[in-house]
Amino acid sequence: MALSVVLICFLGLTFAFAAADPSSLQDFCVAQAGSSVLVNGLACKDPKTVQANDFSFGGLHLPGNTSNPVGSKVTPVTVTQLLGLNTLGISMARIDIAPWGINPLHTHPRATEILTVFEGTLEVGFITSNPDNRLISKILQKGDAFVFPQGLVHFQRNTGNRNAVAIAALGSQNPGVITVANAVFGSTPDTSADILAKAFQVDKSVVGQIQSKF
Ligand SMILES: *[C@@H]1O[C@H](CO)[C@@H](O)[C@H](O)[C@H]1NC(C)=O
Repeated sequence: MALSVVLICFLGLTFAFAAADPSSLQDFCVAQAGSSVLVNGLACKDPKTVQANDFSFGGLHLPGNTSNPVGSKVTPVTVTQLLGLNTLGISMARIDIAPWGINPLHTHPRATEILTVFEGTLEVGFITSNPDNRLISKILQKGDAFVFPQGLVHFQRNTGNRNAVAIAALGSQNPGVITVANAVFGSTPDTSADILAKAFQVDKSVVGQIQSKF
């Protein structure tokens, strides 16, 4: 009895803390660029050699190039771009979306995201887990913020006639991105057209047509 209570508490804590990266055991652990040491995260460089620039990233005032089929560009600032984020459990991104462009359906396996609109108008939404698959969406104006819960499929669309700019903050140094269309129709090697045709309840030729775009 006592053991099961302890076990349930332990599992509860595990889940309670699973929504963010593990907590630090030191002030910082600036990632060692090019280290071959494989750990959960990135190996630290010698703290005595750490400089202010290890904690800095520039250029977020610059618009991303949205000339692509979806009409959007994400400029990430994760531990890959800003080595000082290693072990700190957060990251961010600038999102530029051309009029009627989209940041297509995607999910971050390791992070909740909170997004703030700085310019323009965005339709945003996320879809809840099975069995409901409820779409929760809203039109955001400049100054509005919206949260996308960890792991849920979500999107943004510019519904205005000028460029939209948003800044997103994420609860992981390395949130990960799985873009649904790219993962499903653009895997390497291809996911078999039989599997996709049955999953999407369409003819294999439709699957081939979509696969050819990714
Ligand atoms: C934006 O991207 C397009 C497509 O890749 C490219 O042709 C164009 O030169 C880029 N524009 C700028 C300003 O970099």
